[in-house]
Amino acid sequence: MFVTMAVDHLLTSFILLLICNTGFSAEISVFVKTGDSVQLDIQTQELPEFDLLSWRNDKSVIIVRYIHESREVKLHSSYKDRVDFNDETFSLTLKNMQKTDTGFYTARTSGESENNIVTYRVSVIDAVDAPVLTVNSHWSSSDSCTVNFTCRAHDLMINSSYQNNRCSPEEVTSQINTLILDCSEESIICNHSNTVSWKIDRINITQLCGDLCVCEDGRFCSTGYTDTRTTRV
Ligand SMILES: *[C@@H]1O[C@H](CO)[C@@H](O)[C@H](O)[C@H]1NC(C)=O
Ligand SMILES: *[C@@H]1O[C@H](CO)[C@@H](O)[C@H](O)[C@H]1NC(C)=O
Ligand SMILES: *[C@@H]1O[C@H](CO)[C@@H](O)[C@H](O)[C@H]1NC(C)=O
Ligand SMILES: *[C@@H]1O[C@H](CO)[C@@H](O)[C@H](O)[C@H]1NC(C)=O
Repeated sequence: MFVTMAVDHLLTSFILLLICNTGFSAEISVFVKTGDSVQLDIQTQELPEFDLLSWRNDKSVIIVRYIHESREVKLHSSYKDRVDFNDETFSLTLKNMQKTDTGFYTARTSGESENNIVTYRVSVIDAVDAPVLTVNSHWSSSDSCTVNFTCRAHDLMINSSYQNNRCSPEEVTSQINTLILDCSEESIICNHSNTVSWKIDRINITQLCGDLCVCEDGRFCSTGYTDTRTTRV
């Protein structure tokens, strides 16, 4: 009985969701890195009969108007140099996106009736800063090596320790940024990412621990690891 009710409830939610989704055209969320281009497709093969197809933003600007009969394309003056409109597929490409371009973009047709074809929620965000791995202290003997280190990026920080060829993987997040720490036998890797980009900093364990220097104070060994750090974009 309880199970049936639970299933019923699920079904109801599902149907409500469906109704909501068909009540207006679907909304698609996309993330774009600052400076990149984004192509917005109409997402359908079957457009209703129309005289005019337009792409507009949420600031009442009609970016492009396509007149069906004459196949004429009219671009808004403020978008002229930074959009491409494909008059076969009706997709719109917005170029060199800036954070101020964040917002909604809608394709609409009009003829005997007006139809919203698709709406995009476009978020323009910056690429992440490179994370920085720093060794706080390390000491090694012939058969073991311990490294205490910190990885920092933005407002995120992970302190951890590398021992016996491993560290415990860790992950911290703030809003859209994620900092992930992982170690292999060869290196400590810190990965800073968001939905549009990632960057890593790496410390080479072989070089840091391989020299067998026994140090109580990280400063004595500092030249041993600073040379081996690499940042990959
Ligand atoms: C290194 O980290 C371990 C584990 O977090 C901790 O117990 C130890 O005191 C740290 N050593 C130094 C020198 O900071
Ligand atoms: C990491 O260590 C630093 C100094 O050793 C300390 O100030 C900071 O609060 C620690 N951060 C975390 C997240 O444990
Ligand atoms: C860093 O993290 C991102 C996002 O999780 C992932 O796509 C990427 O492959 C990672 N890079 C490395 C070198 O692990
Ligand atoms: C680490 O350093 C060693 C010795 O210089 C080198 O052979 C190895 O390829 C390096 N590993 C990585 C992952 O950079």
